[in-house]
Amino acid sequence: MKKLVWPLLLIFFLLGGLAAIMVGQVVLPPEPRPESVEAISEKWASSGHADQESRSFTNWDENDPPVVPATCAKCHSAFGYLSYLGEDGSEPYSVDSEVPIGSVVSCYVCHNPSAHEKDEAIFPSGAEITGLGEVANCAECHQGRQSGLSIVNATMNMPDDEVNEDLSFINVHYKVAAATRYGSDVTLGYEFPGMDYVGFYPHVADYQQCTDCHDAHSLGITATDCAACHPMVSDLANLRDIRMSDTPDFDGDGNTTEGLYYEMTNIHSMLYAAIQAYADEVIGQPIVYGKQFPYWFNDTNANGIADEDEINFGNRYVTWTPRLLRATYNYQIVNMDPGGFMHNARYLIQIMIDTMADLSETIPIETAHLTRP
Ligand code: HEC
Ligand code: HEC
Ligand code: HEC
Ligand code: HEC
Ligand code: HEC
Repeated sequence: MKKLVWPLLLIFFLLGGLAAIMVGQVVLPPEPRPESVEAISEKWASSGHADQESRSFTNWDENDPPVVPATCAKCHSAFGYLSYLGEDGSEPYSVDSEVPIGSVVSCYVCHNPSAHEKDEAIFPSGAEITGLGEVANCAECHQGRQSGLSIVNATMNMPDDEVNEDLSFINVHYKVAAATRYGSDVTLGYEFPGMDYVGFYPHVADYQQCTDCHDAHSLGITATDCAACHPMVSDLANLRDIRMSDTPDFDGDGNTTEGLYYEMTNIHSMLYAAIQAYADEVIGQPIVYGKQFPYWFNDTNANGIADEDEINFGNRYVTWTPRLLRATYNYQIVNMDPGGFMHNARYLIQIMIDTMADLSETIPIETAHLTRP
């Protein structure tokens, strides 16, 4: 169908131009032309999707044999994604076997008959979101690998504050933008029983889908687009200052002009302090967060700081309770979506405030000054 559109438009404009010349008027130029394939290719080549050196595409190079396992291939390999789509003739919605290393998110990953037809995505919670159109493919890879239900299942029938050696940290995985966008619709976070959570953050009609804000090929955001409605924006550096005048003081610091980003990240810091207090006082084993797998380590000198000699796999945190597991899972989500303040800040603030309230059942934690969205 789409192939028909341009020839038809061309005929339309030619006829329009002819008509205009005949009545002696100036012809306005037609709508901007679609970008050239060269320009698109250049933009793509500069994006993370094309970065052959990235750990996302080289992580398995030293394996013997050097293959990407089926469980990882969907998002870390062009072969894997094509198999997931069923474009290679296999069953859709699964990758049946390991695939060769050495591919990136290439043109064909998004431009093949199955990818173009695709309209839905299935998230780790099992939730299916339909009507996605051209961004259905984005949602399949930027959805993370866990959901709040993973925590429910891992901690089923376990007392909240008892250390259980069967437990270990559950990481939602990386750049989980699509899962954040849909929030409670896909149960991204651990959601506390009896509480209500927001789903999709609609923002505004023309800036709602991934590719309304991100260029599909460079993946970049054009700050001047945002500035049209958010005058505080001058360039990419101050997207984080965006705030609506009626946005509540979620973090209770009295500052009602700081960007929504800071409302969210201030609460994130408070949650970290609460997690450390709980590990210290309830479990009796201090904890720190380190910016590498598996993210949570013993604070061996109990100074509250992630010292270099503490951040290694051998010193990973092992004394998990169900309450600590759900708190750290929710904490990590905010780190795993660098665009979370835009994608769905209110959902992230909800799960963080509820996590602090949950920890406060065991130790004193001040939450009264916070405003839950
Ligand atoms: C087949 C899986 C896959 C699909 C489909 C996919 N992505 Fe990605 N995306 C990735 C991976 C893997 C990375 C990390 C790349 C890296 O490490 O260099 C990434 C990185 C990104 C980044 C980070 C910016 C950058 O340059 O690294 C953005 C933004 C992004 N993707 C947006 C999108 C959008 C929008 C879509 C849909 C148009 C999409 N992605 C479709 C797998 C995918
Ligand atoms: C649902 C899609 C998806 C699946 C399945 C998936 N990943 Fe990822 N992974 C991503 C995305 C998106 C990134 C973002 C990379 C980035 O940080 O730029 C990523 C990043 C990574 C990174 C790089 C982290 C870093 O520090 O940069 C590693 C390592 C990784 N994944 C390992 C795995 C392994 C191992 C598996 C299989 C057990 C797996 N992934 C399965 C989507 C996925
Ligand atoms: C991550 C998914 C993804 C990848 C990878 C990708 N594209 Fe696209 N492409 C899209 C989407 C989505 C659109 C729909 C229009 C838009 O939002 O720009 C599109 C549109 C296009 C168009 C039509 C542009 C227009 O203005 O109508 C062309 C041509 C194109 N892509 C070529 C390519 C080429 C060539 C590559 C590789 C160099 C590539 N694409 C890689 C997702 C992707
Ligand atoms: C309303 C605009 C908007 C929409 C819609 C949107 N994003 Fe974003 N996204 C952003 C902003 C803003 C950032 C943060 C960029 C920054 O801080 O530089 C971001 C960040 C990201 C990042 C991290 C980029 C990086 O460099 O690490 C990824 C990945 C991403 N978005 C993917 C997606 C995907 C996939 C979708 C659709 C499910 C989506 N986004 C929808 C605006 C949007
Ligand atoms: C057409 C006007 C328009 C454009 C363009 C636009 N926005 Fe918005 N934005 C709004 C409106 C209206 C809201 C309030 C929506 C709501 O009710 O939450 C909003 C809310 C936000 C918020 C939440 C602020 C808060 O205090 O709750 C962020 C963050 C944001 N926009 C970022 C962006 C970014 C980044 C871009 C560019 C990619 C962008 N916006 C483009 C109109 C726009």
